[in-house]
Amino acid sequence: MSLDAVQKFDPARAAEYDRQARVALAGYEAMHELGACCLAAALGEGGERSLLVVGVGTGQEIVTLGTFEPGWRFTAVDPAAPMIALARDRLGAVGLLERTDLIECGVEALPETPHDAATLIGVLHHLPDAATRAALLGSIARRLKPGAPLILGGNYRSYDSEPLLRAAWRQRWRQQGAAAETADAQFARIAQGVVPPASEAEVFRLLAEAGFVEPVRFFNSLFWGGWIAFRGPDQSL
Ligand SMILES: C[S@@+](CC[C@H](N)C(=O)[O-])C[C@H]1O[C@@H](n2cnc3c(N)ncnc32)[C@H](O)[C@@H]1O
Repeated sequence: MSLDAVQKFDPARAAEYDRQARVALAGYEAMHELGACCLAAALGEGGERSLLVVGVGTGQEIVTLGTFEPGWRFTAVDPAAPMIALARDRLGAVGLLERTDLIECGVEALPETPHDAATLIGVLHHLPDAATRAALLGSIARRLKPGAPLILGGNYRSYDSEPLLRAAWRQRWRQQGAAAETADAQFARIAQGVVPPASEAEVFRLLAEAGFVEPVRFFNSLFWGGWIAFRGPDQSL
């Protein structure tokens, strides 16, 4: 597990995360909602399902999925204590904690129980390199039933590769009320030490390496993409 990707979600960043995520990712809630639509399309309506939520942060996946789908239960992990603490409070306040096992750990610490689906939203681009990303996706694949869907969300393409989008991202901060210097500082902090997968082809290569097939992009916002892919039938990962 990459410690930097966890330590950066310290108490200060955790406390401002829910507001900042909605500025940094225009369409944050829409992305989560569309992920829920894709999962329901893949899993079918109604019924009881077990979902693995990796990098749950402050709990948005469970707020969205749990509200729309009353029969779904969640095993949710995150190694950052400040984020898990906020998720616990938030899910408790909306009555979703009873359907959630919320655990402060990485996914590799979980038993290899086969879940019906998984999510990995906003995590992959924080990891330092392709090997770490592939290892995390492989750990998720080993905890899914064959054919199970994965919702993957995260930034892709280097931030320097698209100067117009990079400039537009800075304008997003300004238009949402940040002073110019704050917009620059926010961007510098978000980009610090983060080198997202270089392209969608790189995302697809990482998914394939971990045994996921048939990826489809359902969301895009500046550098961000949202995909659904499926655990392949090969059990020997
Ligand atoms: C940007 S937040 C995303 C939170 C949430 N999924 C959302 O959509 O708002 C990234 C989260 O990934 C967690 N994280 C970092 N490395 C991780 C790893 N190796 N395994 C699981 N979670 C990790 C961080 O602690 C942080 O809470």
